[in-house]
Amino acid sequence: MAAVTEWLTWRTAMEQALYGPEGFYRRPGAGPAAHFRTSAHNPVFAEAVGRLLLRVDERLGAPARLDFVDMAAGGGELTAGVVEWLTAAAPEVAARLRAVAVDLRPRPEGLPEAVEWTGSAPSGVVGLLIANEWLDNVVCDVAEVGADGVARIVEVDPDSGDERAGELPDAAQQAWLERWWPLSEGGDSAGARAEIGLDRDAAWRSVVDRLERGVAVAVDYSHTAAGRPRFGTLTGYREGHQVPAVPDGSCDITAHVALDACAAALDSAALDSGAPRDPMVETVLTTQREYLRELGISGARPDLALAASDPLGYLRGLSRASAAAELTDPGGLGGFGWLLAFAGC
Ligand SMILES: C[S@@+](CC[C@H](N)C(=O)[O-])C[C@H]1O[C@@H](n2cnc3c(N)ncnc32)[C@H](O)[C@@H]1O
Repeated sequence: MAAVTEWLTWRTAMEQALYGPEGFYRRPGAGPAAHFRTSAHNPVFAEAVGRLLLRVDERLGAPARLDFVDMAAGGGELTAGVVEWLTAAAPEVAARLRAVAVDLRPRPEGLPEAVEWTGSAPSGVVGLLIANEWLDNVVCDVAEVGADGVARIVEVDPDSGDERAGELPDAAQQAWLERWWPLSEGGDSAGARAEIGLDRDAAWRSVVDRLERGVAVAVDYSHTAAGRPRFGTLTGYREGHQVPAVPDGSCDITAHVALDACAAALDSAALDSGAPRDPMVETVLTTQREYLRELGISGARPDLALAASDPLGYLRGLSRASAAAELTDPGGLGGFGWLLAFAGC
């Protein structure tokens, strides 16, 4: 007898494939670093985040305890790198630092003792909270316009990745699509797709809520209303390669983030509750290339004269420049969105 296909919405399929008991992020093993390289694996990123942390410390007036929270920390590489950089660059600030790495995965072996490891973001954060490549892994539903010109929620077979059209979007999904990612319905729009960011918006709100005073940053593959991809971005990654999005737990499932919608979600949270918008929360949306430049990170090569006077220093400078160039490449990591929320500082 042929097995009966269990059709799931993409939101449910992602939840199961990434975070279920056998999910991609729950399985023991080497963790995300075995499957893809992120900015967190580049030492100059820790320096950039460390520099931002020093700015935040200054804005906060050097609090007795300065928090650094690495949300969805993966293997904790960024947290460890920031602690190391700060200890060398500003030991008096490092002495006041509480570094917390947050992930669903167990604490990685070899993480410095100075780093706390926890499963959920602490509240009352006074300092900097960063979420690098988290929101793209927060579950989302997909809507697609059919041959009849009507957008429906896509359902997927988790074993094969085959898709079929499901229900019409519900009221909240419909409202999100209309505001953030309109799929012009009608005959010639058949095949157009959108990834519905309601859970990403809520996830961003939830971490900004953890701030007592300070800055929260989301860094991710992203797009804004000016340039949504016509067919969406949902895809898979396994062992360094892009693969078809089959939500069977064997690969990462990711979709770029509508960061402009996340930014506005802080306002709509206030509107939903009837409370006035918090005038102490300000938002900045830019790119990694722009923000790292603003933090003084560039891929400029060291002065050639250094090669004669300090050959080792010259080589170190060259290697730092090439790491910085990777982080600021506009066609790669430099094109990532940086969404910053400044709360009470
Ligand atoms: C793509 S990895 C990014 C890891 C790291 N930030 C980096 O840039 O290399 C996404 C991580 O998010 C974690 N994650 C997803 N949802 C989470 C949640 N609700 N709380 C904590 N960690 C979460 C996963 O376990 C995974 O380690």
